[in-house]
Amino acid sequence: MANLTTRLGSLTLPNPVLTASGCAASGQELHQFFDVATLGAVVTKSIMTRPRSGRPTPRMAETPSGMLNSIGLQGPGIDAFLEKDLPWLSEHGARVVVSIAGGHTDEYVALARRLYDNPAVSMIEVNISCPNVESRGQVFACDPAASGRVIGAVRRAADPKVPVFAKLSPDVTDITVIARACAEAGADGLSLINTLLGMAIDTDTLAPVLGGVTGGLSGPAIRPVAVRCVWQVHQVLPHLPILGMGGIRSGLDALQFIAAGASAVSVGTAVFGDPTAPARVLAELEQALDERGFASVADAVGIAHKSVAEPVKEPA
Ligand SMILES: Cc1cc2nc3c(=O)[nH]c(=O)nc-3n(C[C@H](O)[C@H](O)[C@H](O)COP(=O)(O)O)c2cc1C
Repeated sequence: MANLTTRLGSLTLPNPVLTASGCAASGQELHQFFDVATLGAVVTKSIMTRPRSGRPTPRMAETPSGMLNSIGLQGPGIDAFLEKDLPWLSEHGARVVVSIAGGHTDEYVALARRLYDNPAVSMIEVNISCPNVESRGQVFACDPAASGRVIGAVRRAADPKVPVFAKLSPDVTDITVIARACAEAGADGLSLINTLLGMAIDTDTLAPVLGGVTGGLSGPAIRPVAVRCVWQVHQVLPHLPILGMGGIRSGLDALQFIAAGASAVSVGTAVFGDPTAPARVLAELEQALDERGFASVADAVGIAHKSVAEPVKEPA
């Protein structure tokens, strides 16, 4: 059997399959379908400093091979999270990746400080796909300087024992520029990718379907974009660990991300159709690694790069 242990910076996980932020709340609902402690880790919904009610309804729309959501970071805020959700996860033996989000750098820093020296926190994932209030709402993750500022500030404020991962948006011209800015600012790794910005129009009312007008596209439709992002970033930063995600529904989907350079994967949208998806993906991945003769997950990380001698420079 392949050794499933994997590392995300200084964090060692028993296996490489995690939930994706926002798709499993804080793990309680999934626990009725499988033991959340059997996953590599649970990634929480992005937590903010204060409770938030999110964006107007409707907040979900189906699309071919994916879904659009405009939840708008609805959540209980850090106080309730520390009081209820984090202790629940810890009591149930889950390793916890806490996703944090904010509108300015100080908010991210305040959240990192609140998580300091808390043994229940295994890792921090910094969701920088949020509008920067100090920069007329430009999304942090679309600006290398702003991304680097937030990540550097969080890295300095966070517990040094806890890895800090930057979660990047695919909605940029060159994701490697943002990846390098985060790495130079001290990110211990990268989560790739957040949703792609999309929208849908109702052809009866001729109005946008989502109450928030635009929303994030996720699910199998975005998988090739996500695999491409993991590939490109691993090519330029081969030693920086990557948590890959985007449309993973099966063990073979997960294997694509690992072969492109991810050390672990998150399963998001698939959970809405099949709440057992993360546990199933883990079992299927283990089988796929065994069938291909891998002694460990680590041996498969980035292996697809070996089949390409030179980076392809021409347009596709
Ligand atoms: C309903 C929903 C809510 C999400 N909420 C968050 C969030 O709070 N923070 C975050 O970083 N990403 C969030 N995401 C993005 C996912 O974590 C993931 O990056 C993306 O959906 C791609 O993976 P998937 O196709 O497997 O869902 C959300 C996605 C969905 C579908």
